Amino acid sequence: MKNIVLIGFMGSGKSTVAKCLAEFFHKELISTDALIEDKEGQSIAEIFRHYGEQYFRDREREIIKRAAIKKDVVLDCGGGVVLNPQNMDNLRRNGILIYLAASPETIYKRIKRQKNRPLLNISQPKTRIAELINQRKSLYEQADYIIQTDAKTATEISEEIIRLLNQ
Ligand code: S3P
Repeated sequence: MKNIVLIGFMGSGKSTVAKCLAEFFHKELISTDALIEDKEGQSIAEIFRHYGEQYFRDREREIIKRAAIKKDVVLDCGGGVVLNPQNMDNLRRNGILIYLAASPETIYKRIKRQKNRPLLNISQPKTRIAELINQRKSLYEQADYIIQTDAKTATEISEEIIRLLNQ
């Protein structure tokens, strides 16, 4: 089976859904953010603070290049992987890309108490979420499948993906 690659905005439920899918299909679970944190020995927030976003994007590109070579894994991708077309080409090589779509309102509700996302750790996150989704929407929509996640639980989303992949 091809890799299952989850893409989507921060707070769209990728990590929880990826965990469910990996358990269900007995596949290894790989989180690009976790790999970057392990390699750098720092949290994503610290990497952004110490070296800036471009440094993080370069590490993200390297990690994806390596992770995408693997087979039969579930890949939980950071929300910004779509910004680099090279990432998309690499992820597509062995993988089925699934976009977990969510409205800015849903995203805001899900992330408002979390402080671990440097791009949203600002005074007006609501406006920024809408702007970033707007900028990235057409990139996310290059996925093989789009799953609407508003008002759905992670279990419901996972079941929908399992049905889709078992067709
Ligand atoms: C980012 C998403 C984050 C993380 C970093 C940047 C983005 O991952 O990679 O904070 O640009 O959307 P999650 O989508 O897992 O929160």
